[in-house]
Amino acid sequence: MIDWKSGILGVCAALAMVAAPAQNTSPAKPGAWWKNAVIYEIYPRSFGDTNGDGIGDLNGITEHLDYLADLGIDAIWIAPFYPSPQVDFGYDISDYDAIDPQYGTMADFDRLVAEARKRNIRVITDLVLNHTSDLHAWFKESRSSRDNPKADWYVWHDGRPSGEAPNDWLSLFGHSAWQWEPARKQYYYHMFYREQPDLNWNNAEVRKAIDDMIRRWMQRGVEGFRLDAITTLFEDPELRDDPMKDTLNGAGDRDVDHVHTDNLPRLHDAIRELRHVADEMPGRVLIGEVYLPNVQELAKMYGAKNDEFQLPMDTQYGFLNHLSAADFRARLREAETELNGNVPLLVFDNHDNRRSWDRYADGLHNDAIARLIAALLLAPKASSLMYYGQEIGMVTTDPKSKADVRDPVGVTAWPLFKGRDGERTPMQWTSGRNAGFSTAAETWLPVAPDYSMRNVESERRDPGSLFNFYKALIRLRRENAAFRDGEFALVNENDPNVLSFVRRAPDGATVLVALNVSASPQAVNYDRHGVALLSSFAATGATADLKTLSLPAYGVWVGQVR
Ligand code: BGC
Repeated sequence: MIDWKSGILGVCAALAMVAAPAQNTSPAKPGAWWKNAVIYEIYPRSFGDTNGDGIGDLNGITEHLDYLADLGIDAIWIAPFYPSPQVDFGYDISDYDAIDPQYGTMADFDRLVAEARKRNIRVITDLVLNHTSDLHAWFKESRSSRDNPKADWYVWHDGRPSGEAPNDWLSLFGHSAWQWEPARKQYYYHMFYREQPDLNWNNAEVRKAIDDMIRRWMQRGVEGFRLDAITTLFEDPELRDDPMKDTLNGAGDRDVDHVHTDNLPRLHDAIRELRHVADEMPGRVLIGEVYLPNVQELAKMYGAKNDEFQLPMDTQYGFLNHLSAADFRARLREAETELNGNVPLLVFDNHDNRRSWDRYADGLHNDAIARLIAALLLAPKASSLMYYGQEIGMVTTDPKSKADVRDPVGVTAWPLFKGRDGERTPMQWTSGRNAGFSTAAETWLPVAPDYSMRNVESERRDPGSLFNFYKALIRLRRENAAFRDGEFALVNENDPNVLSFVRRAPDGATVLVALNVSASPQAVNYDRHGVALLSSFAATGATADLKTLSLPAYGVWVGQVR
């Protein structure tokens, strides 16, 4: 598994208000709108900078809503924009109820939600519930003494008789997960950076404070939440050490199996409580950031009575990290048949992992592979999570030297792991200065050097671009009944090279999706005729004998079967 949690340290200007907003082509889906939705992740620091400080802001998102409506997505998930010392770029929150001034104001946020709604785009925010910043008022109070009103709001323990930390638990970001606090003469626990103390989820007052905060954001118009690092809420009350492995991570610590610090059974009660709060308002969705080892564990995240996450992330499929028809098929079969009828949430890209372009490219067929990934993400019966820039083929651009690294974990583990800056570089809008992201002399991370060729402006103009491929696929999902409501079934299940499946509309109309997951031409081998709806090599509308139709290397053919 290469997810960032097990592998992070492993070797292995003014806002342009738009009079007539671009609209998605169909009205927002009512009720369970999130089923089969396309959700687009925005890392606000890197999307659009309207005040010229080199850092993206909320107005920079509002400014580009017409672009997102044109792409056709249903919702945006915005990574944290709350006040924060920015040690972990917003994942260290010092106030859950405000906006960090570098991202704007609450009025900017309200306008973003209102403008998004006009375009049938829903807003999902990021909830970091495992921990706060050490500068949050709750923690300042908690650390001040052993008997203040918030003394028990975080995870505090005495040291061992020798004075050492309570046990050997390790932070996912390197070294001991315990930090000594002289004022209390105790240690506090932090699964992530030491500036991110873990909240005590066994404390009812903590849970109530969180529930009320969620209600306030829902009342502001937020329609969903992505629950960050959610499996890490609880730790073993007996403080048993996590078993060590034989390998070392990039920080030089022994790798451990987080059996006593991750995914504890008590977690499910907490998720149910959170879902109960979300259900107080209709149409609210909970997305889980979960990296789980198998489909059985993933199925549990929906809840025994479907009363936990509506959309826990499936990381088995998109983070397979090698191109194999058989392996993608096996993972897709599980996602489509072993989640008790629940909707899978497929994902290839986010702000914690190297971009899919780099994880799957072979150096020879990169563009074809990027289209294959688009089809793998968007053609199954599933909700799909995209990451800004994926639609134009942005690549991972690592810092050149340790001095250039912004993500602290990249400093700790340099050069074995260069941190997550590479997948967080500014969005490439144009071939102009700073790729149209910012007018600043310097941007918070450098713009990737390929921006003059790879940018939104040029790809929108080019009918054969990756952007237009994504746009057409998303449009098919909305407009073609087989994609919108259709059932999913694998076909040609023994083909070692071509992954094929059909989507069948309620009226029987059938679409075939044939994906060549190999570097040589392959026959589709399906005994029917068809008309291409979208293909990486054939013209839309072209008819084909699907028995003999040849797919070029990594070719995609999607068409109506006759
Ligand atoms: C986020 C990371 C963050 C970590 C700690 C993760 O799951 O996606 O970016 O560093 O949580 O909050």
